[in-house]
Amino acid sequence: MLKLNPHYAELKDSYLFRRIAEKTRLWQEAHPGEKLLRMGIGDVSQPLCSAVIEALHAAVEDQASMERFHGYLPENGLPEFREAVAAHYGTRGVRIEAEEVFVSSGASDELGDILDLFAPESPALIMEPAYPAYVDATVIAGRRILRLPARREEDFAPLPPEGEAPGLIYLCSPNNPTGAVFSREKLRAWVDYASAAGAVILFDAAYEAFIEEPELPRSIFEIEGARRCAIEICSLSKTAGFTGTRLGYTVIPKELERGGSSLHAMWIRNRTTKTNGVSYLLQKAGIAVFSPEGQTQTKACIGIYKQNARTLMSALEGTGLWYCGGKNAPYLWVSCPEGVGSWAFFDRLLNDLHIVATPGEGFGESGEGYIRFSTFGNPGDTEEAAGRLAKYLG
Ligand code: MLT
Repeated sequence: MLKLNPHYAELKDSYLFRRIAEKTRLWQEAHPGEKLLRMGIGDVSQPLCSAVIEALHAAVEDQASMERFHGYLPENGLPEFREAVAAHYGTRGVRIEAEEVFVSSGASDELGDILDLFAPESPALIMEPAYPAYVDATVIAGRRILRLPARREEDFAPLPPEGEAPGLIYLCSPNNPTGAVFSREKLRAWVDYASAAGAVILFDAAYEAFIEEPELPRSIFEIEGARRCAIEICSLSKTAGFTGTRLGYTVIPKELERGGSSLHAMWIRNRTTKTNGVSYLLQKAGIAVFSPEGQTQTKACIGIYKQNARTLMSALEGTGLWYCGGKNAPYLWVSCPEGVGSWAFFDRLLNDLHIVATPGEGFGESGEGYIRFSTFGNPGDTEEAAGRLAKYLG
């Protein structure tokens, strides 16, 4: 007899960003013609850079040519793309082999899919507030969650807890939603903890390109010992504006083994079975991101989002609301006015200022009392939103 996955019943009614999109749609329907300033989901506003667009056009021409046409691609990705990613790590002194890079269609897909490597009885440690996909993917997989509240007193970057050892550890740095970045010392503590427990860290580095303080680690593999206890999941969504284009990569070191099995070999087995990979066009676009022109152009685009962050931070200065993030991350994590819950504040911002943000509670209970602003909007809208916030809250 067919039985459905019972764990869907443990999920919230709808995924956080779907719920916000629905609320926004209803508001827009009730207020036709009113302009909404969207600072909710971290979706980029700037177009792909010209190096990427040129590579996409050239790849389309390849697919139109008898000589240059590509059908199925090499398993786990085009060697040139994997080499470009490995070389990118190399620029920061991190040694990664091209064969350790798996091309993916983005970090959110991989963060859930990677759970296939682990037995369901291995609990996952998730720091909260957390990117909701970690929690939902773990629940769907029927896995137990050990929740670790990340508190303001520890800069939202907690040290490993006492008590039951996890099997998996989700770490996100720069953090979504708080913008916190784990220092080298804190990451070392997590690597030591995972190694001692035989656990595996799933390191979400989707926002690494936003780190501007050179002493802060951008990859878990900058930490001694991480190659034996960590997988890094990264994406070009925020780095290069690929939210709608979809391309990412996962790094699994060849040394990473548990119970005598290589996780690298297991992931090759998994991917070659479950996917035929990412399209030729997108991988060519990804190679262009790591070209010298692509790097200059994508950094310039990140500069636009960083200016947005500064605009918002200076607006918040005068409001008396506490905030963090924005410096090394594209999110500002702001405390709600005294006594106002995060969904109530979300509603106020929507109704009174026509601004869409993300309520902290959507990232887990420990996010209650906060709201998140994305800095990925276009600069004009961000300035308008900053002006409205300063006037309303000041
Ligand atoms: C966010 O707003 O948290 C992210 O954009 C969501 C995502 O990357 O899937």
